[in-house]
Amino acid sequence: MTTPNKTNRRTFISQTVKGGLAVTVGLSAAAPLLQSFTTKENTIATNFKTGFDQQPLPYPYNALEDVIDAMTMEIHYSKHAAAYSKNLKDAVAAEKVDVTTSLEDVLANVSKYSAKMRNNGGGHYNHEMFWQCMRPKTENNRPTGKLMEAIEKQFFSFDNFKKQFAEFGKNRFGSGWAWLYINKDNLITIGSTTNQDNPLMDIAEIKGFPLLGLDVWEHAYYLKYQNKRADYIEAWWKVVNWDYVQQRMDSYKM
Ligand SMILES: [Fe+2]
Repeated sequence: MTTPNKTNRRTFISQTVKGGLAVTVGLSAAAPLLQSFTTKENTIATNFKTGFDQQPLPYPYNALEDVIDAMTMEIHYSKHAAAYSKNLKDAVAAEKVDVTTSLEDVLANVSKYSAKMRNNGGGHYNHEMFWQCMRPKTENNRPTGKLMEAIEKQFFSFDNFKKQFAEFGKNRFGSGWAWLYINKDNLITIGSTTNQDNPLMDIAEIKGFPLLGLDVWEHAYYLKYQNKRADYIEAWWKVVNWDYVQQRMDSYKM
């Protein structure tokens, strides 16, 4: 991959922001990154395979106070997310999916399955990842090391990255997700998807491997923030688990 020079990157950012879907900039020194999303043999990031069962929440319901209140977390995890896992497994059984396959492989071919598989497979994957993407709040919460270097290089500053990412979250009409992800051209990118779609899906608006996801469904924030999605996003930066995001990015350098 050739890293575009700064002028070209700025031009490209301007063009892609106007174009709508995703902001894409070069990820330097990332030649061995994405190889394929289509075969098990070439699937990288094996540490991040997602099963079909809901895993335990990695912290108590109140651990993300006061950014995300305990009741929201409890309902979100034990009702909404639990239902995605149950309904996914129902769809897997009904559509005779090989349960030894990974959820990632199902999502990569989700166009071949039902809407139920798409909605609940995405919903389960996205939430399993979302819980890991968060941790108890810290002030001045920021990435470090290579992840921060990549963000600053590609988005010119961490604040600029947050601003652009937040725009995708705020502007996603209805329900959906904002993503930081690596696309199939080895480019680190931000964008958004509708409903429970994600970049792993063959029918998603944007495609690649997600590094960080933000749930902007109302069920994720409405009890505390009501209609103020922008306030939820602004507060959410305090609980992002940048170490986990770094681990996902590192997994592509195998
Ligand atoms: Fe959610």
